[in-house]
Amino acid sequence: MPSQVSIREVGPRDGLQNEDVVPTDAKVRLLDSLSRNGVGRIEAVSFVHPKAIPQMADASEVWAAAARAEGVRYSALVPNSKGAERALAAGFTEIEVVVSASNTHNLKNVNRSTDESLDDIAGLIDLLHTAGATAEVIVSTSFGCPYEGDVDPKRVHAIVDRVLADGADRISFGDTTGMATPRRVLEVVDPVLQRHAGTPLLLHFHNTRGTALANILTALQLGVTEYDAAIGGLGGCPYAPGATGNVATEEVVHMLEDMGIDTGIDLAALIESAKLAQEIVGRELPSGVLKAGPRI
Ligand code: COA
Ligand code: ZN
Repeated sequence: MPSQVSIREVGPRDGLQNEDVVPTDAKVRLLDSLSRNGVGRIEAVSFVHPKAIPQMADASEVWAAAARAEGVRYSALVPNSKGAERALAAGFTEIEVVVSASNTHNLKNVNRSTDESLDDIAGLIDLLHTAGATAEVIVSTSFGCPYEGDVDPKRVHAIVDRVLADGADRISFGDTTGMATPRRVLEVVDPVLQRHAGTPLLLHFHNTRGTALANILTALQLGVTEYDAAIGGLGGCPYAPGATGNVATEEVVHMLEDMGIDTGIDLAALIESAKLAQEIVGRELPSGVLKAGPRI
């Protein structure tokens, strides 16, 4: 088991994009609360078409108003080169581009085939590197697709090979609609670790079917040390029917800290951010740690 894990908080983006639109100042309050409460990495916003995701239409304004805390790594998600240009213009230096392993999901999400996205991503990586920014490629629907069902891990592996050859700095696997199980995690992740040892790898699980913590435990046993999570269990995907929340950050921190795995996050302070998230979205969030409190 690793002794340390790095958690990236994705509530402000993956979480809020799936809620009714909240005011810009509420988004800024959530970001600032997370930064203050010891979260070391935050996916702050996405630069997507405002008609596709109206919840992120004010991304530049949110980012301009946020108090960027010293020592916190902030990133932005983009769907294409145009989004990457906007993210660079806003001042981001850590950028994630998303592509789906399933062609149908990619078409629904970004209106082009997986191969067309991959061609765009090759140029996007060069664009980011020229600007001094890093490029993470998120492979969505890596563990299954809400339209196509099972996704052959070989398809996922071919995408990884291609984007790493094109210069990607990091890889992330997205379990967009919570279809992953420990078996699927082994089949997708293990060959990548064997083949691309040393490449930074991050996992993004949704808890739609209650398997997120089991998946994280499996990946920990493989040695994976980076995970996405969303405060309160916010989240979903507007182009993926049935996608409920991301695994809740405080549930992951609660489990890891009890296992002696350092996250650098203060659980009590994090729960205050979860309460704020709940107040902002105006609905009860699914996190068990938020409901029951931390162990005393
Ligand atoms: N941000 C803002 N505007 C964008 C953009 C971006 N990232 N990418 C393209 N556009 C603009 C183009 O400039 C063009 O504008 P114009 O009509 O004024 O010339 C217009 O959108 C159409 O461009 P096109 O490349 O044909 O885009 P599209 O209509 O096929 O939409 C996406 C493609 C990717 C922009 C859109 O599907 C999208 O934003 N998807 C995001 C989905 C998402 O965030 N899902 C959840 C996260 S995984
Ligand atoms: Zn997600």
